[in-house]
Amino acid sequence: MQDAPWVGGSLFGLEGAKDGMPERVRVETHGEEETRQLGAHLSAAVRAGDVLLLLGHFGAGKTTLVQGIARGLGVDQPVTSPSFVIASEYQGRIPLYHIDLYRVEQMDEVTLEAIAEYFGGDGLCVVEWPGSVPDELAHGAVRLELAIMGEEDRGLTLEGALPRLQAVFERFGAGRLAQTGRHGG
Ligand SMILES: Nc1ncnc2c1ncn2[C@@H]1O[C@H](COP(=O)(O)OP(=O)(O)O)[C@@H](O)[C@H]1O
Ligand SMILES: [Mg+2]
Repeated sequence: MQDAPWVGGSLFGLEGAKDGMPERVRVETHGEEETRQLGAHLSAAVRAGDVLLLLGHFGAGKTTLVQGIARGLGVDQPVTSPSFVIASEYQGRIPLYHIDLYRVEQMDEVTLEAIAEYFGGDGLCVVEWPGSVPDELAHGAVRLELAIMGEEDRGLTLEGALPRLQAVFERFGAGRLAQTGRHGG
C-alpha cells in the first residue's frame, strides 16, 4: 500500500496536530476542473465573514479556484480577473467578494477601508495576491497556497485553517485516494 502513487501526494502534511486537527492539510489536483471541484466543495463549508487568502504564482490556479467557489455558491456570472478592478462582488448563497491585489504594492487609505469593510462583511472574501493586506486584517484569515507541480498538477495547502475547511480538504483527499485505489488496484 505505501508504494501507491498517491501516498504523500494527495493528502499529507498532518503536522502540528491540535485537538485532533492538523494545522496544514494538502491536496493535489490534476486539471483545472478538479481545482474548481475543490472550490465548489469549499463553498459548502464557508460562512459569511470568512476570509481566504490565496497565495501562489501566476497560473497557479487562484482564479480557477475562485471560479469553483462561485459555482458552488450558486453564482451565475462568470468570474474573471479584470486587470483594472480590485474587487468584484457576486451574489450567491452568500455574497462572494473576489479581491485581486496584484497591482497593489502599498495599500492607500481608501483601499484599506474598502478591504476592511469587505473583511468584516456579510459574505466570503477571497483575496489573490494578499501581500499588501496589513497583519491586523490578515490575522483571522485562512491561508491557502497553490503551487505548480506540473502542467496540470497543482498542490493546494491550507494553513491555520478552520476545522470545517480542513475537513473539506481531508474528504477531497480521501475521495481521490479511494478513486486511485479503485482504478489502480
Ligand atoms: N490542476 C489545475 N488547477 C488549476 N489550474 C490549472 C490546473 N492545471 C492546469 N491549470 C491551468 O493553469 C491556469 C491557472 O490560471 P489562473 O487560475 O488564472 O491562475 P492564477 O489566478 O493563480 O494566476 C489556467 O490556464 C488553467 O487551465
Ligand atoms: Mg488570478
